[in-house]
Parts: sequence; structure tokens; C-alpha cells
Amino acid sequence: MTAVLSSDAGTRNAPPQHFEVRRFDAPVGAEIVGLDISKPINDADFARIHRAHLDHHVVVFRDQQVTPADHVAFSRRFGPLEIHVLHQFQLKGQPEILIVSNIKENGEPIGLGDAGVYWHSDISYKPKPSLGSLLHAQELPSQGGDTLFADQHLAWEALSPELQKRVLPLKAEHSYLAKYEELRSKNPWRPKLSQAQIDQVAPAIQPVVRTHPETGRKALFVSEHFTTRIVGLPQDESDALLAELFAHSVKPEFVYRHHWAPHDLVFWDNRSLMHLAAGTPDELRRKLYRTTIEGDTPF
Ligand code: OGA
Ligand code: MN
Repeated sequence: MTAVLSSDAGTRNAPPQHFEVRRFDAPVGAEIVGLDISKPINDADFARIHRAHLDHHVVVFRDQQVTPADHVAFSRRFGPLEIHVLHQFQLKGQPEILIVSNIKENGEPIGLGDAGVYWHSDISYKPKPSLGSLLHAQELPSQGGDTLFADQHLAWEALSPELQKRVLPLKAEHSYLAKYEELRSKNPWRPKLSQAQIDQVAPAIQPVVRTHPETGRKALFVSEHFTTRIVGLPQDESDALLAELFAHSVKPEFVYRHHWAPHDLVFWDNRSLMHLAAGTPDELRRKLYRTTIEGDTPF
């Protein structure tokens, strides 16, 4: 149980907020309407939010006209926050926020412009990947810019019994650097990493099937972006198995496609889902702020 109940008596006993959790007409996801994350949230309301996150894996808090400090404070109630390795794109004065944006100012990118161009789970390349991430819309394009979420519990459950048996004991390597140079060649603004940054992102070995530490449900845990090989298999067999798992894991029947509305704050569970940025036309501006909650060692 990672979520922390507030110890502050004023917050614990704050009056209830009247909000609704509405499941999407999709395999995964729900919206929360009527909550203001910048106002005190009492323990009973927080428990409802936490439950909705575990049940739906991605929750969309609608209409959050809140500051970066509110976003950070709310995120912290779920656990300590990560500072992203690309410190170039931290929000000034708020290092827990990573700017995700395709905008350039004076020829310089203001944020990570190609976040999520391959399916992934945030920070799976570290020994302790992220619990979840909260992405807050600041500026949205008039077209495009959707984010897709694929339920990896459903993906696991839909594997044939033979394939489940084969992959259950396997481990795989995840590497931040797997696609870095390729992305850098397409997006020359991607910084050349310093040795200190490279040292921070040494590859990690993860189970191919992980167990959600709070719900006990199994989930597939390999991704096109970061998973490089299955440990102990010859390269050709590893490539073939990963290609099969990648294709399976993002079938439309596991996917919710989020079309962003102004001031949406989207909170997903990296232990249950993979996500993908569908892409934004270059000439349209898109800017979001992300916080990333630390997680546990997968098992
Ligand atoms: C991220 C990410 C996808 C998007 O911020 O972690 O993958 O649609 N973003 O911006
Ligand atoms: Mn991401």
C-alpha cells in the first residue's frame, strides 16, 4: 500500500467534496468530475480516489484549474516524486515537474517533444519503475495530441494458456538508451547525454509478467520503447517473442484513447498500463506538465 493518508488534521477532517467517478465506455479508464485537487481532500474522499485509480488504472480529473504547486502537492499524496533524468526540461522552480511539449522558443525546445512516441510504461528502465504519472494539460492543439492507454492485465489474461506458461518465468532487459540515438537522429534537439546521465540509466532486468503490488493482479510488462531482450534466449528467439508480445499487448480491445479537454489532469498506473502519444502536427502547440511517482521493485 503506497498511498499515504494525510496526517494533517485539517485535511483529514475537511468537508467532503461532491464528486463522481464515471467509468468510460472503453476497456479501461474513468473520469472524476466535481473534485478540485487544490482544495483539502479528506481521508474518505482520498480513499475513493485511490480506489478508482486501482479499479480503472487511468483516471481523468476534469477541469483542474490549478497551479504546478497544487499538482505537485496532490501527486505527493500517492508517494515520493521522481526527478526526471532530462533535467533540461524541468519546470523552473518546480523540479518535480517535467515539461512535455513540442514548443520551441527562440529555436530552443521548452520540453520533451517526443515523449511517448513508442508504447511504454514510465521509468521501466530503472530497478524501481514508476507507480504512476500525472499529466496536466496546459496548452492543447486543435487537432491530434491524443494519448492511448493499454491495459496490461487484460493483455496478460488474453494470452493463450501455453504462452502464459512460457512467459511467466521469464525476465527481460529494459534500457532507456535502447531508442535514444534513433530518437536523437530524428529530433536533433534531444540532448547528448552526459556520462552522469548515462550512469543514472543503466539497464534494468524486470519480470516479463509482474504482479500489481496493491491488487495482486498480473500484468504483462514489456514495451516497444524500452525492452531490448529476453534474458537467456538467443537473440532471434528473443526478438520473435518480443515482437509477438508487443503486437498482442496493444490490441484495440485493451486500449482507451484519451482526447484531451482543457485542464484535464490524467493520472495513470504504470504498473497496470502502457501508454503512447498519438502525435501532434508540428505546427500546432501542445504543452503538458508531468509528475512521476516513485514505485516499488517489480515482482
Ligand atoms: C509521458 C508520455 C504521452 C503524451 O509524459 O510520460 O508518455 O501523450 N506522454 O504526451
Ligand atoms: Mn510516458
